[in-house]
Amino acid sequence: MGNYNSTKKEIKNYICARTPLIVIDSSERERVERMLKEISSELNIELLYYTDEKKACHLNGGSSRDVDDPLAFISQTFRKNRNSTFAFGDIKRISEDNIYSREVLNILYLAKETNSTLILITADNVWSRLASFGMLTTLDYPDVDERIHQINQFVSRYRSRFKISWDETDIRMAATLMRGFTEIQTENILSTTLITNNGLGKENLAELTAQKSKLYGAVSCIQAVNVPKGLCASGLENLKGWLLDKRRIFFASDSELESRDLTTPKGILLAGIPGCGKSLSAKMVAKEWNLPLFRFDIGSVYDKWVGESEKKMKEALQFIDNVAPCVLWVDEIEKALSTSDSGNDTGKRVLGQFLFWLQESKSRVFLVATANDISKLPFELFRKGRFSEMFFIDLPNKREREDTIKYYVNKSLHKTLPDEVINSLVEISEGYSYSDIEYSVKECAQHALTEGDEAINSQLILEKFKRIVPIAKANPEMVDRIRAWGTEHAVAASKQEEK
Ligand SMILES: Nc1ncnc2c1ncn2[C@@H]1O[C@H](COP(=O)(O)OP(=O)(O)OP(=O)(O)O)[C@@H](O)[C@H]1O
Ligand SMILES: [Mg+2]
Repeated sequence: MGNYNSTKKEIKNYICARTPLIVIDSSERERVERMLKEISSELNIELLYYTDEKKACHLNGGSSRDVDDPLAFISQTFRKNRNSTFAFGDIKRISEDNIYSREVLNILYLAKETNSTLILITADNVWSRLASFGMLTTLDYPDVDERIHQINQFVSRYRSRFKISWDETDIRMAATLMRGFTEIQTENILSTTLITNNGLGKENLAELTAQKSKLYGAVSCIQAVNVPKGLCASGLENLKGWLLDKRRIFFASDSELESRDLTTPKGILLAGIPGCGKSLSAKMVAKEWNLPLFRFDIGSVYDKWVGESEKKMKEALQFIDNVAPCVLWVDEIEKALSTSDSGNDTGKRVLGQFLFWLQESKSRVFLVATANDISKLPFELFRKGRFSEMFFIDLPNKREREDTIKYYVNKSLHKTLPDEVINSLVEISEGYSYSDIEYSVKECAQHALTEGDEAINSQLILEKFKRIVPIAKANPEMVDRIRAWGTEHAVAASKQEEK
């Protein structure tokens, strides 16, 4: 793991020590090329370089030449000149034992003999026999300082032609949002935003995050979720208060956290009765914290082919680390994770991978996991340090029902009901979930749409409400079971009051 400067220093040391092989793990070839150019002039060495597109060339200028067989050309170079350094930018098929990687192996024996160094730039694994010849170094995506530098350069390049009102703080914010992008991606996103808006203003900062979700939409088990601007959740005061407190910590700077030996809050588990706002709360976190929301379908990671599940999980976790800062939503986590309990080893390994990441990841990812049936959750999930807090969402109490009724009546029926009607609805809806209340009001709204607003009267609204068979009546055992667990193991999401 390394940023530009630390990786560069590492590579310089390896070259000076004449390590036969240096593997640079990176998918950003241009950035590595620039780094190698700098190294070549700082160390004052000739650095030969090959890619399919550039052919063989000296990195610090000079013409390129076509070669039929790059590996044969490298051997030839090492034989002719001792102490050579050769970088290969398009290397493929070296993750396993095959004729090609055997040929590279021979070159490495030769490099050792001639005191030369072969540099391979690849984002793939390297066959273990090759790897044993050298040192591996990883060039991470640009860090925040590199991104600030890149954005500053971009801004100065276009300032004379476009209206750009970003100040130092805005550039820092843009750099924070662009975490997880390669240099080229950052350039593309900045250009697109600049062209679309014919300039760059403060109001365009949020667009950078939107671009981010689009760019990474390709991982099949993770989807970007759009959070409606007007999203609103009634009640749940304890949960809302907790989120307000933790927001400050989630966005604290690295140095603030380090100085107090703290980490950012990892996430919350929301358990509760169906239809009471678990999924809605996940969206609420993203909205309140102004972060992109991603939904992770852990179930779809499992694959029947050996090794595939682990690979998919690794890709998914890497993706999440890249798109951070973000909110990661795992809905009905018990369903996904109970697959891991079916006695097969893959399931356990994949779960282990996820839990390890959850504990160790340094990325600013806030996990919101929801669960209906807690009894099915693997015990390891509850160990300290995994979740910052576990909340239990109960059926709405009297005040919450009143707020919810008023909210939906206003939103869908565009009216305010007299107090006595509201009071009756609050009484009738005892034991209803939030979604039961929403459903009843929307039934009336449908009626209003077909029959006209005049057709809606208090009588009709009361009738629609009375038709609901609430979950507390339909399945009281389930409600009791979830409540019993919630009271013992979790914090109430709502402020307690008379029901
Ligand atoms: N606190 C709330 N305020 C307003 N509306 C709510 C609230 N909670 C839930 N709703 C509404 O009820 C419906 C169901 O909510 P949601 O999907 O979040 O419930 P859930 O707990 O995830 O249910 P399930 O267990 O079935 O997945 C949604 O349409 C949502 O808008
Ligand atoms: Mg849900």
